Amino acid sequence: MKQLIDKLYQTSSLLPQEYKELIDNRNPEISEYLFEKARGVRIRNYGYDIYIRGLIEFTNYCRNDCYYCGIRKSNSSVERYRLSKEQILDCCKMGYDLGFRTFVLQGGEDGYYSDEKMVDIIRSIKKGYPMCAVTLSLGEKGYETYKAFYDAGADRYLLRHETANEEHYGRLHPSKMSLKNRKKCLYDLKEIGYQVGCGFMVGSPYQTTDCLVEDLQFIKELNPHMVGIGPFIPHHGTPFAGETAGTLELTLFLLGIIRLMLPQVLLPATTALGTIHTKGREMGVLAGANVVMPNLSPVDVRKKYLLYDNKICTGDEAAECRYCLQKRIEAIGCHISVSRGDHKSIL
Ligand code: SAM
Ligand code: FES
Repeated sequence: MKQLIDKLYQTSSLLPQEYKELIDNRNPEISEYLFEKARGVRIRNYGYDIYIRGLIEFTNYCRNDCYYCGIRKSNSSVERYRLSKEQILDCCKMGYDLGFRTFVLQGGEDGYYSDEKMVDIIRSIKKGYPMCAVTLSLGEKGYETYKAFYDAGADRYLLRHETANEEHYGRLHPSKMSLKNRKKCLYDLKEIGYQVGCGFMVGSPYQTTDCLVEDLQFIKELNPHMVGIGPFIPHHGTPFAGETAGTLELTLFLLGIIRLMLPQVLLPATTALGTIHTKGREMGVLAGANVVMPNLSPVDVRKKYLLYDNKICTGDEAAECRYCLQKRIEAIGCHISVSRGDHKSIL
């Protein structure tokens, strides 16, 4: 197995059957070997800097019904909310004062925010904070809409592909959603000029090693600037309520592989990782991640944006999250970077 990791380290890619062999035969010793290499690659590219992004969860309305997601349309027990432009700008002000230089606007697919409304919000943020990056995570839109948001000043877009296997995609989503369109969106975003992020949940129901190999191959093909992966965690109000969560161990292993595949990628240690283990995000960084995304949403809405059960930090103020993460990152020998934290190819 170590030879496969050496090959991945040297060439940044493996054959499909090699990825499968590596994933299926992993053990603690192999994992540690992988993480050591992945840390080395992260340090070579980004030093000990860990980038912070301020996450603003601005709406939990969603027209979609993804089977895994706590804020899916059919979950009638969710108390829905929307933030106004002023509330979003207040979050940015607080975030700026705390040293954030990237704001991530994330939400369900909510028709209330027309293209005009979003363009106005993006322009207002960029006017107030011209030196900051704006990342959007609003789901699937048409080319023209993505272009309008980009022209308004948006810099980056996160759209997890969720799974690169057609059949698996169909088992996670209602039939009106398609992997084909998800992929088209990602290629449109790239063509327009965004820094783009794809990704998937680790351990989602029906996921096999073959699915993961297809995910890795798709990631290599798309060559995104960011990759968001985190464990699947069941939400009690969804069709997947009784399913088993993804593991810390496999998520860390995949983070390590992705760092070696795309040495310069921006790779978050996600909130979901911090939810399944108290030290999950620190372990993510030690496995090759270089981004953390503390929550900047107003405290009174945080408990309403529950994608999965037991989500961490839902009762904390933005400043508490910011300094808690700083302490955690410093405890493992890294430091929080107050900068936009663009992908290396942009600098
Ligand atoms: N609506 C946007 C979209 O579809 O990209 C952004 C919001 S969506 C809630 C953000 C991500 O949350 C999804 O891409 C999915 O991977 C993740 N997510 C949803 N439910 C989850 C769960 N139960 N466990 C872990 N992650 C989950
Ligand atoms: Fe739309 Fe989850 S189903 S954000």
